Amino acid sequence: MSKTPQINAIKGMNDILPPESARWEWLEDVVRRVMAAHAYRNVRTPIMELTQLYTRGLGEVTDIVEKEMYAFEDRADQHGKADHLALRPEGTAGLVRAVAEHNLLYDGGKRLFYMGPMFRRERPQRGRYRQFHQVGAEALGFGGPEVDAELILLAVALWRELGINNWRLELNSLGQPDERREHRAALIAYFEAHAGQLDEDAKRRLHSNPLRILDTKNPAMQALAEGAPKLIDHLGDKSRAHFAAVQAILAANGVEWRINPRLVRGLDYYNLTVFEFITDSLGAQGTICGGGRYDYLIEQIGGKPAPAVGWALGVERVLELLKEEGVHTLDPVPDAYAVIPDAAALPQVMRCLHQLRSLGVAVQMHAASGQGGEGMGSMKSQFKRADASGARFALIFGADELAEGQVTVKALRDGAGAQTRQSLAEPALWADILKGTP
Ligand code: HAM
Repeated sequence: MSKTPQINAIKGMNDILPPESARWEWLEDVVRRVMAAHAYRNVRTPIMELTQLYTRGLGEVTDIVEKEMYAFEDRADQHGKADHLALRPEGTAGLVRAVAEHNLLYDGGKRLFYMGPMFRRERPQRGRYRQFHQVGAEALGFGGPEVDAELILLAVALWRELGINNWRLELNSLGQPDERREHRAALIAYFEAHAGQLDEDAKRRLHSNPLRILDTKNPAMQALAEGAPKLIDHLGDKSRAHFAAVQAILAANGVEWRINPRLVRGLDYYNLTVFEFITDSLGAQGTICGGGRYDYLIEQIGGKPAPAVGWALGVERVLELLKEEGVHTLDPVPDAYAVIPDAAALPQVMRCLHQLRSLGVAVQMHAASGQGGEGMGSMKSQFKRADASGARFALIFGADELAEGQVTVKALRDGAGAQTRQSLAEPALWADILKGTP
C-alpha cells in the first residue's frame, strides 16, 4: 500500500504553535493594556470584503491591489450574479467601511484598534509572509495634529511596554490633494526630462502614479528618485503648520525622528502626516509599523466625509525583533500535574481536578497515550511527563492515598521531593499551596 501523501500548509502561511504562541498571547495582552490606557476600543471586521473596497480605497495602481491581492469571483447566486471578493490585504479599508456602514461617528470621533491576519501574495522571505498579522490603531473624526502625535506616542508606549529599543521614526508630510497635484506636475516634468533612465515600472507609473516612482526598489533608479522635486517643498502654510505641530508635540515628549521626504507609503489613501517605525535589526524587512493621515478615504468609499489617522504594525516582525533584542517572555506552565496510577480512580480524581481548576489552579492531567487509551503507564513514565510539563507540583492519586480520602502533593521544583497529604474532599484548603500564593 502506498503511503498517503502528507498535506502541508500553503507557502508563506505559518502555523503558530506552542511555545511560540505564548509569545503571541503575551504581545496581544500588552497591546490590549496599552490600547485601553489610551482609550482605544476593539473592532473586529471580516477577513473578506468586496474587492471594490480595496480597488477604490487603496488605489488601483498600488502593488497591493495590482499584484498581491487574493481576489476571486464567488459562486453565482440563483440569479447568476457573482460577487468579486478579496481576502483583506490590510485593515484600514475594512474598518473605515464598518465605521461608515454603522454610522459610528454620529456622536463624535472614535478611537479604535484591531488585531488579526492580513493576506498579501508577496514573495515569502524573512519578515514577509502571505498570511501575516497586524495590530492597527485608527482615530476617526479628528482632524488636528494632536491626534497624529497621540498615535505616534501610542506606538512609542507600545515599544516601551514590549521592551523594544532598537527603532527609529521617519516622518513626512504628503500635503493636501491640490498640493500633490502641483507636485505631481513637477514630478512628471522631471521624470519626462529623464525618460531614458526610467525602468518599466516607472514608465508605466509615470502618468498614473508618479509619486510611487519615488518608492522604487531599483538601485539603478535611486539617484534619479533622490534628485526629484520634493513634495515637502510644495506644501502650503496650513499643511506646514500641521506638520510643525505634530513635531512640536513629539519633541516635547522626548521622541526623536528624521524627516524622510521620500517616504510615500505603499497605499494611496494618505495625506498630510505619514510615518514609519524602522529597525536595523531585521535586515530588508525593517519596517515594523507604518501609517499616517487618510482624511479622504471615508468619502472615497461612499461614507460621510471625516478626517482620520492611524497605523498598523506587523506582529511577526515585532516578535522577531523581540527575539533579536533578547526579550524573554514566560512560557505558561501548569501549577500541578496529576499522576494517576490506576485508571479506575479517574472519575473520583477528575472531580477533584475540576474543583481545583475552579479555584484557579492550572492542572494538567495524565492521560493514556496511544490508540484505544489502554493503560495509564508506569509511575516512572508518569513522573517523567510531570517533569516535562514544567509543573511545580505533582498530585499523586495512588491507591493508598485514595483509600484514606487523600492525595499526595509533591514538590517538583523548589524544595523538590517535599510532600504532604491533603484532603480529597476539600481542595479549597490547600489550593493556595499549588498556586504558590500562601
Ligand atoms: P502597511 O505599511 O502596508 O500599512 O503595513 C503595516 C505593517 O504591516 C508593515 O510596516 C509591516 O510591519 C507589516 N507587513 C506588511 N506586509 C507584510 C508582510 N507581507 N509580511 C509581514 N508583515 C507585513 C498598512 O497596512 C496600513 N493599513 C497602515 C495604516 C493604518 N495606515 C493608516 N492606518
